[in-house]
Formats: sequence, structure tokens, C-alpha cells
Amino acid sequence: MDDIVEKLLADLHREGTAFDAAQTERALTRRNLEPDGAGLLWSLAGIVGARRVVEIGTSNGYSAIWLADALRGTGGRLVSVDVVADPGAAENLVRAGLRDLVELRHSDGGAYLTALADASVDLLFLDAERVEYPRWWPHPVRVLRPGGLLVIDNVLSHPGEVAEFLELLAGETSVTGRTVPVGKGLHLAWRSH
Ligand SMILES: C[S@@+](CC[C@H](N)C(=O)[O-])C[C@H]1O[C@@H](n2cnc3c(N)ncnc32)[C@H](O)[C@@H]1O
Repeated sequence: MDDIVEKLLADLHREGTAFDAAQTERALTRRNLEPDGAGLLWSLAGIVGARRVVEIGTSNGYSAIWLADALRGTGGRLVSVDVVADPGAAENLVRAGLRDLVELRHSDGGAYLTALADASVDLLFLDAERVEYPRWWPHPVRVLRPGGLLVIDNVLSHPGEVAEFLELLAGETSVTGRTVPVGKGLHLAWRSH
């Protein structure tokens, strides 16, 4: 990662934390990923050589910048999906020099995943309304290619909200999973080869 992107990410995270602290309406907050979790996500994208990456929950593009930066090394592309189109996402991706690697989609995450082909995604990152994830089943796993990786944020900060989805994952024999206590808790689940 170059110095410009690194500085932009540090600035965005600091601004996002201050912005959210001053907001009373949850829907207007940015709720950016924690930098430690984002760093792990960036590393994983590179390690699995992810080329077809989907993120559900764009906000202002903070985690999208991390993912897209990793895709510079893999030759991949990111589709980032959000029900709310925040113009800050496109602006921040331009500032990072990564706009060309990212398609921003204004859509419901569940509807987007439902329409994807089987095994068409190398890495899927879920960072939206956690209680909605069970309704999206089985698509978050169906769309993963063998060896593909699913990453879910906030599993330690909001265990009650992700419990039902993690139970569905645990019952899926083609998937192995592990929660990593980084940031707000990332659950990693990968589909067997
Ligand atoms: C925690 S924020 C995402 C933060 C972002 N990943 C980052 O680190 O900067 C959650 C986002 O999910 C979006 N969202 C909520 N429900 C959604 C849904 N059903 N489909 C797609 N996006 C959704 C919200 O509009 C919000 O922007």
C-alpha cells in the first residue's frame, strides 16, 4: 500500500469516528471497519489471490479502499453494494486512485447475492445490517467458489445479531469457519476445495 492510500485511510477512519460520535441517527453513521480488521481483510484478499470480490455495505468506501488496494496485486475487481448510495464512496475511491477497480452498486445486498451465479465469488465481505443475513441464506455460501472466503464483521461486538447466521454456517458441511478476535471480531468461513 502506498503512502497516499495509507494516509487517506487513517484520515477517513479518524473523521468517521468523530462523525459517528456526533450523529444521533444510526442510519446516517458511517460505521467504518476497524483498521486492524481492515488490515486482516486486505491481507486475506492477497493471500487467497482474490479476483472476484463482493462487499455488502459500502458506506463511504473505507473498507472498499482497503479491498481495492489489495486487488492491485491480484488483478481483481470489487463490486461494493449498498442500499444507500453515499456519494462519498466514489469520491474517496477517486482520492485513493482506485475508482477503476470498483463497481458501486445501489441495491439490497440479499437481492444482489441472489442474482449471482454459483461459485462466482472468491471473497465475500458482509458488513451490512447483520440481522438480515439469515434471510440471504444460502446465497452467501452458494456464490463462493471452492476455496472461496466469506468474512463477516462484528461477530464479537454484536454476537446476538449474528448468532442465527453463524448457526446456519456451522450446519453447512462444505464450510469451515473460525472467529478471529481482531477489530470488532471477524468470522472467516471458507468453502472446501
Ligand atoms: C457498517 S456500514 C458499512 C461500513 C463499510 N463496510 C466500511 O467499513 O466503511 C453498513 C452499511 O450497510 C448498508 N446496508 C444496510 N442494509 C443493507 C442491505 N440490506 N443491503 C446492502 N447494504 C445495506 C448501510 O446503508 C451501511 O452503509
